[in-house]
Order: sequence, then C-alpha cells, then structure tokens
Amino acid sequence: MPTLATTVDGLKLPNPFVIGSGPPGTNMNVINKAFKEGWGAVIAKTVSLDASKVVNVTPRYAKLYANDGKEVIGWENIELISDRKFSIWIEEFKKIKDAYPEGILIASIMEEFSKDAWVEIVERCQDAGVDAFECNFSCPHGLPERKMGAAMGQVPEILEEVCGWVMSAAKKPVWAKMTPNVTRIQDPSRASLRAGCQGLAAINTIRSVMGVNLDTLRPEPTVEGYTTPGGYSCRAVKPIALRMVMEIATMIRSEFPGRSLSGIGGVETGRDAAEFILLGSDTVQVCTGVMKFGYAHVRQMCDELLQFMEKHNFETLSDFKGKSLDYFTTHAELVRMQTKRKASQAAAAEEKKVVKADDQWSGDEFVKQSNDLARN
Ligand SMILES: Cc1cc2nc3c(=O)[nH]c(=O)nc-3n(C[C@H](O)[C@H](O)[C@H](O)COP(=O)(O)O)c2cc1C
Repeated sequence: MPTLATTVDGLKLPNPFVIGSGPPGTNMNVINKAFKEGWGAVIAKTVSLDASKVVNVTPRYAKLYANDGKEVIGWENIELISDRKFSIWIEEFKKIKDAYPEGILIASIMEEFSKDAWVEIVERCQDAGVDAFECNFSCPHGLPERKMGAAMGQVPEILEEVCGWVMSAAKKPVWAKMTPNVTRIQDPSRASLRAGCQGLAAINTIRSVMGVNLDTLRPEPTVEGYTTPGGYSCRAVKPIALRMVMEIATMIRSEFPGRSLSGIGGVETGRDAAEFILLGSDTVQVCTGVMKFGYAHVRQMCDELLQFMEKHNFETLSDFKGKSLDYFTTHAELVRMQTKRKASQAAAAEEKKVVKADDQWSGDEFVKQSNDLARN
C-alpha cells in the first residue's frame, strides 16, 4: 500500500496537499477546518505588520467560464494580502497550534524594503509557534506600489538581500514564493536559494485582464466603473505553472540539490498533483480549487493520487518526484532524434522489400528483385 506521507525541510506532512495562501486560509476558523478535513499543511493568507495600509475593494474577482457556463476554468482577483490586524493573527496562530499541534501551519509574510520590518515579522510569527514561512514576493497587484510583493520578487538583487534578512532571523524553514510575471523564473529562484532559503514555491497569479463587458464597455472586475490588472489562477494556468515548475526543478537539481519546491497553479485533482510531483515538486498547493470545491475535496485528491501510485507501483512520493524531468530536451535535439528514427524506419522498410527466399521470386518483378539482392 503506497503512502502519501512525506517529510519536507524537516516538516512532517500526512500528504503533499497544502492550502495555498489566500481566502482558504484567511482566519483561524477556516484554517482549523482545513486541518480537520486532513490537509497536509496550511499556508495562511499573507500577513504584514500594518494591516491598516491594506484596503480591499469589491467586487474583486472575475471568472472565465467554459462548457456553456457550467465550469469555471479561470479566475482573476484584485485582492490584496490580509487586511486583518497583525496582533489578531498572532493570537490566532497560537490558538491554531494549540488546537492542532501536529498540523503544519505556515505563515505567509510580506513587508516593505526594510530589514527591521522583515526581522520583526519573522520573530513575532515564530514566537507564536508557526512551523515555517513562505515569503510572498509575488503579489502582482496593489502592493507593488509600495515596492512589495512582485515588485520585490522581480529584481533578483533585491530579493537576495531581503531573503538574507529573513534567513538571519528565521529558526524555521523558509520558502520564497515566486511570481510568474518575469521572463526567466530561474533568476529570482536562484537569488532566493543563494540567500539560504530552504525552498521555493511557484507560481503566484499571472498578471491579467479578465475581459471587457460588451454592454458597458468596462473591463472586469469593475469597481466604480474602473478596474486594475489582477492575478490569474485556476485550471487555465496549469500549463504555465508546470512549465515554470519544470524550469525551477531543473535548476534546483543541477545547482541546489536538496532544496524543496512547492508546485502551485490550477491543481484540482490528484492527477494534477502527480504531474507537478513528476516535474520536481515536493508538495502541491491549492487555492482556487478550494474556493470551487471546498475543504473536503482533499480526500478525493488523496485517493486519486494513491490510485496513480498504485498503478505505477510507486510506494512513496520520492519514487516518482522529478521522474519526468528527464524527458525534456531542446527542439534541435527533438529534430535530430526524429530524423534519425525516420531514417532507420525507412531503411528497415527498404530491407523488408528485398526478396530473401527463393519462393518469393515473381516473374514481373524479377529484374528489380535481382538488383535488390545485389545491393544488400
Ligand atoms: C482570491 C485570491 C487571493 C490570493 N491571495 C494570496 C495571498 O494573500 N498571498 C499569496 O501568496 N498568494 C495569494 N494568492 C495566490 C495563490 O496562493 C496561488 O499562488 C494562485 O492562485 C495559483 O494557484 P491556484 O490556481 O491553485 O489558485 C491568491 C489567489 C487568489 C485566487
């Protein structure tokens, strides 16, 4: 019987399914619900020291539908990090750890470009008992105006410095969460690992405009008649997330063996999770999927992942982690391999045409068959 239990950066998880930072981890009640339903770990909604600077608007979501409106495949949000007071969060972290001492509770943190602020947020969260940190260097909207989130995560030199501050204070594992809104995701990833972070998480949402209402001519989600580009998530982003996870995992394997990776983006099934793990993820995070299907969905995802493992005789996640990375190469190499195979098939076909036995001679083709035997 295969097992989903896994240990990542010393954290013991019952399964690799982690609640991704966002609405599904927005307060103590919902985090407790996630542990009750059996999630492997929970990453709380991103917190900052001064929540009074965080002002959300409504509506802040817009959806892309498929299947005649029956299915949501894309989701845009212009939601900021948590607007709940930091002191309340600290109390809630303590209570959650009291209620679920075995539950892996990860604080998602974000601050401005100030060493003191980053050190303070790390120390206060770890004093409250959190098990690990995820640094949000990746929120694509709103906070870049304060040089936070993606604005920090898009500049490897700044990222390396900030990760260094975090590592100077953290006594718990730290994952740096990457923005996909860059040309080469390996560059910020490498900077974070160089600064000593234990792992990476990817991807956050993709900067997007969901669409324009053709009656009002206003882009959506429309707030007071206007909008601002937001972050795209849900099933539609999975192919992009898998590509970036593959690129990061390949870099980790060659330059930072042993560092961890949490894959994120459009995970809704155990089979999605299997794909992320095959491309080098240790864990997978689910955010929009929980908003669509609820917390109990984790059980179905665990069953589906176990079925995949049984089919292939994999006993543990490490039996197949990164296994499909070996099947990537350059386009030039694909051309070379295909040309070689076609040439050898053509040669084999030609070979088959040659008469080998006396009973295959025919009067009409006698001359050609004689010639073939001269060539072979
Ligand atoms: C409504 C919403 C709010 C989010 N808020 C946060 C956040 O506070 N911090 C963070 O790091 N990521 C946040 N995210 C990004 C998710 O954690 C995740 O990286 C992204 O949505 C892709 O995964 P998914 O397709 O499973 O949702 C948010 C996503 C959504 C949809």
